[in-house]
Amino acid sequence: MNQAAKPLPVAESETGLRVLKALARQRSLLPALEIMHADVGDIFQITLPSFKPAVLVGPTFNRHVLVTDRDRFLWRSEKDPVTHLLRHGLLVEDGQSHDQLRAAMEPELHRQKVYGHLEAMGHFTDIILAQWEDGMNLDMLVEMRRIALLILMGTLFGVDFMPDMERLWKPILRAIKYISPGFWIIWPDLPRPGYRRALQELDEYLFDLISRRRITDAETQDLLGHLIASGMSDDLIRDQVLTLLIAGHDTSTALLAWTLYLLGRHPKELARAQAEVDIVVGRNMPSIEHVGHLRYLDQIIKETLRLYPPIHVGNRFSATSQQVGGYQIPKNTRVMYSIYLSHRDEAYWPDPQNFTPERFDRSEQHRLTALSYVPFGGGPRNCIGAAFAQVEAKVVLARILQKFDLLLLPQKVSPYMGATLEPRPGVMMRVSQRKAPNG
Ligand code: HEM
Repeated sequence: MNQAAKPLPVAESETGLRVLKALARQRSLLPALEIMHADVGDIFQITLPSFKPAVLVGPTFNRHVLVTDRDRFLWRSEKDPVTHLLRHGLLVEDGQSHDQLRAAMEPELHRQKVYGHLEAMGHFTDIILAQWEDGMNLDMLVEMRRIALLILMGTLFGVDFMPDMERLWKPILRAIKYISPGFWIIWPDLPRPGYRRALQELDEYLFDLISRRRITDAETQDLLGHLIASGMSDDLIRDQVLTLLIAGHDTSTALLAWTLYLLGRHPKELARAQAEVDIVVGRNMPSIEHVGHLRYLDQIIKETLRLYPPIHVGNRFSATSQQVGGYQIPKNTRVMYSIYLSHRDEAYWPDPQNFTPERFDRSEQHRLTALSYVPFGGGPRNCIGAAFAQVEAKVVLARILQKFDLLLLPQKVSPYMGATLEPRPGVMMRVSQRKAPNG
């Protein structure tokens, strides 16, 4: 018999009070979400003024949103800043339009294609590492953004981004801030100073990049060449390039910075990773074979993605009224599947708060429950850049570990919910040139 579905659970007043206290104390939604999950369960509703999303946690709900009932959800919301910024970028399109864009870009981001960029990834990393001097104190959040920008722009769009990096640094960060959660959620008309100027500067750069490519070397077979050859208009190409620029570098920046932070906190694991790199790669530029053999580094990256998933939540809107796990989600509700909470759920992860790379050892992987681990989402609309990001992370980290010893400087670091989950205020490390890289 079909039982009437219950309304979405909300926090009791005692939980609500703890949530408010956590919000006031830590100025972050994450601890508040953890309290809600622990007290209310795997599905709950946040009840802030004009922000009442349903939050879903764990493999059963992930499967509902990502696989079985994915057609009942929409990505695009005309009111969201991300739609204003990316216009008709892949990330904010639905239905046929999304599928056509995805089909146009996917071949260029397949693992085999990504392997073709491997050497360039090492080369762009080296450009930034050449500026690191022995004994320098560096903010790895900044350094990893520089590397990620050079790699993304160099490999997918064939441009040397170095001469424009300084000029476009602030506009890029301003655009990222514009799409990050903030008070605009509650007050949509809140003034957003600096955004229009930033957008104008970015657009000028992107349209110039596209028109120069059309004139000079339209034949070049990178992602930009592919988009031009597919017959898209400049406007539509701009939307895809900006989407990949933002989605493809801000996430990798966060992943790399968190990995270095965790290695800095865990010197034994750092030493083991460095020893592996020495044995597998030696002094060479990492190759496809090397990358395949860096197993411990792979576990470290996976564990970092579990603890600090750069995309900590997937956003949707319910296109229909629907039942999930006996609860009713009304049409047009904002639905968020929480990657962060799924990855720290005790039901699936022993000692979930601990950094334990070995849990991703191949012999242990049979213990993982499908869709309990979703750093790149899941189903047909998973991250199009997942292979790119994982190869990139290995190459960049291997290159750093080959060349430098790292010491984390004392500073309180907390996860900040921007467009990605970032280590704030940054990851300060002292870098020392390695005297004998092969030990
Ligand atoms: C560590 C790095 C990365 C992480 C953790 C990550 C995570 C994710 C996640 C979780 C989604 C799905 C979100 C959802 O279900 O709502 C996604 C989608 C997407 N990602 Fe990534 N991503 C990363 C790197 C990249 C890179 C390098 C690129 C581009 C080169 C990229 C481009 C995209 C795009 C365009 C989508 C939307 C795909 C679609 O809707 O069809 N990402 N990413």
